[in-house]
Amino acid sequence: MSPKPYPPLMKDYPHFLHGGDYNPDQWLDQPDIIDEDFRMMPLAGCNCVTLPVFGWMALEPEECVFTFDWLDAILDRVAASGFKAILATPSGSKPAWMAAKYPEIRRINRDGRRAPQHARHNHCYTSPVYREKTAIMNGKLAERYHAHPALGMWHISNEYSPFCFCDLCFDAFRRWLQEKYGTLDALNKAWWTAFWANQYTSWDQINMIDHHIEGMHLDWMRFCTHQIVDFMKHEIAAVRTFSPDVPTTTNFMGTYYPLDYWRFAEVVDLVSNDWYPAYHGRPEQTLQAAIDGSFVHDMNRSMKQGKPFVLMESAPSSTNWFSTPKLKAPGVHRLQSLQAVAHGADSVLYFQWRKGRGAHEKFHGAVVDHVGHEHTRVFQEVAQVGEDLKRLQPVLGTTVRPEVAVVYDWEVRWALGCSCGPRNKATEVGSKENFDKEYVQTCMAHYASFWKRGVPVDVIESTCDFSPYKLLVAPMLFLLKPGVAERLRAFVEEGGTLVTTYLCGILDESMLCHTGGWPGGGLRDLLGIWVEEFDALYEDQAQTLLPVPDNGLGLEGSYPAHTYCDLLHAEGADVLAAFGEDWYAGRPALTRNAAGKGTAYYIAARTDSLFLDALYGGLMDTLSIQAALPAPLPEGVTAQMRTDGESTFVFLLNMGADDVKVDLGAGAYTNLLDGQACTGSFNLPGYGSAVLRRG
Ligand code: GLA
Ligand code: ZN
Repeated sequence: MSPKPYPPLMKDYPHFLHGGDYNPDQWLDQPDIIDEDFRMMPLAGCNCVTLPVFGWMALEPEECVFTFDWLDAILDRVAASGFKAILATPSGSKPAWMAAKYPEIRRINRDGRRAPQHARHNHCYTSPVYREKTAIMNGKLAERYHAHPALGMWHISNEYSPFCFCDLCFDAFRRWLQEKYGTLDALNKAWWTAFWANQYTSWDQINMIDHHIEGMHLDWMRFCTHQIVDFMKHEIAAVRTFSPDVPTTTNFMGTYYPLDYWRFAEVVDLVSNDWYPAYHGRPEQTLQAAIDGSFVHDMNRSMKQGKPFVLMESAPSSTNWFSTPKLKAPGVHRLQSLQAVAHGADSVLYFQWRKGRGAHEKFHGAVVDHVGHEHTRVFQEVAQVGEDLKRLQPVLGTTVRPEVAVVYDWEVRWALGCSCGPRNKATEVGSKENFDKEYVQTCMAHYASFWKRGVPVDVIESTCDFSPYKLLVAPMLFLLKPGVAERLRAFVEEGGTLVTTYLCGILDESMLCHTGGWPGGGLRDLLGIWVEEFDALYEDQAQTLLPVPDNGLGLEGSYPAHTYCDLLHAEGADVLAAFGEDWYAGRPALTRNAAGKGTAYYIAARTDSLFLDALYGGLMDTLSIQAALPAPLPEGVTAQMRTDGESTFVFLLNMGADDVKVDLGAGAYTNLLDGQACTGSFNLPGYGSAVLRRG
């Protein structure tokens, strides 16, 4: 429980990184603008720029004609200012000349047509030509700048995203399948292709477009992550040849459905995320966005077992692609930035430093607005964050070791997304991709109960080590990867507390239903229940959960339930609550089973926060789970913590518009942001934030 601080994100640069995407290549004909940039960066407390993310044309305007001089000059200025550069490989946007000369680098869309050259993030990941061109470009960048004093990190490409349906990709998919299954017989069995006479007798008959073969659809999702990771490895290898020691990263997009970022995290040195929360819209929306954001930050930290991560992009003001791009009220930018730091970010970086004059993102929030000077509200708020980050120096490299983990697993999500039922989106029959039965929202809903209590949480996948935790929450564990059921059993038997829910242990890793009674894979015995059937409710239908007296968790009254309800039999488990409505009133709705030294709970229906807060409140008390602060927090406020093993840093974040008082309990604190000592009750204004050092 006494983690030592991690080294800084960049070697020999012990500072929070503050800055963001910098696109001087859009301003090369206006050197006065670039002079202004370097004058203003220190005024904003910035020390880091990311470039040239979309600079391929500026670096290679014609095939094999390389123009690095402008970048030389910029990097020299970065170094002369004492700043650092996150050097990006420019593969996110391919040059038009390349797309015209080598059509294979342009993707084929789902409809079978080759996409025209347009926009960005749309190259084929399999194309040997694009791989070769990328390796040349990356190699040249690394060869030229590997020893440059400005270079602190490699940013590999930008927001990788699938899909490409070209023959090169399909061939690669088939090769990947051959390696995975060995024989067509094994593949046909795994995919249950006897259904509708879909057995394949030759590998080239496999056509991923057929999503009715759900096992194939799931494998396609796995393959797309694999192929992009493979492309990224290829990019990294080209850089590594000259620059073996500089850390690599690529920017993730939160819980983006198509990509399993755990597989990305295995390949990069640092986890980075882009984060555009819809704050200061409507109050409920702000609170929800805050909880969702914290969940993602916790996942990003968990992906490297607690290592601080990079907040790679965020907007200092409004986000132009929102349907209603609200301005951030005073304090909200600081709140958002400190929230990321609270969960383990050692950077606050923006998209972008200066607004471009034209094209699609001309209104996107940036540090420097079109007016061109530092005397703006947004610039001053950014400068405040720059100031804050300097004061937070003692927090740098610190982390947290939570006692609670929530399992959010991409393959579970994909399995839910690929599966016809239970429940489907009426408007999307035939195209269920992306309809994941609100799996992410459900994981976040469970997570919210801890967030509100200021309890640190890791967000892990189902193959992670469970042993560091007292309490493991695994909602909707629809698909069981190999070994997960056994490891859950070991976790519980060794004294852990497991909470799982409806739709648990239904499928194996090939999307084949477990036989012999749900939850499958041995979980039936661990949970002491047999789920005989699961019901789906209409949106306007409601159920209730009625706790039995003396349930040991302090549950009382009646709790609403909806959407999914299981019909289960208790086979040794205690029934702690029963359904209250419909023809299955009285059947078990919440169970508890003792196994070894631990306990396994099963929630048989989708519930709302009223129930989850009560259940987890009871469990947190029973298990004496550590919270950042001892007393309950006001509504809309969270407390998060980082520690260096000696001092604890408590981040107080008020996501509501009203001023509140936070009970600090008996401890004595210093607010690092203003140096003030504080004890007892702490005044936190609406959208206010504070970082209190204890000990
Ligand atoms: C993403 C991209 C950036 C920019 C921002 C705008 O995060 O990586 O290039 O387009 O979105 O919000
Ligand atoms: Zn392709």
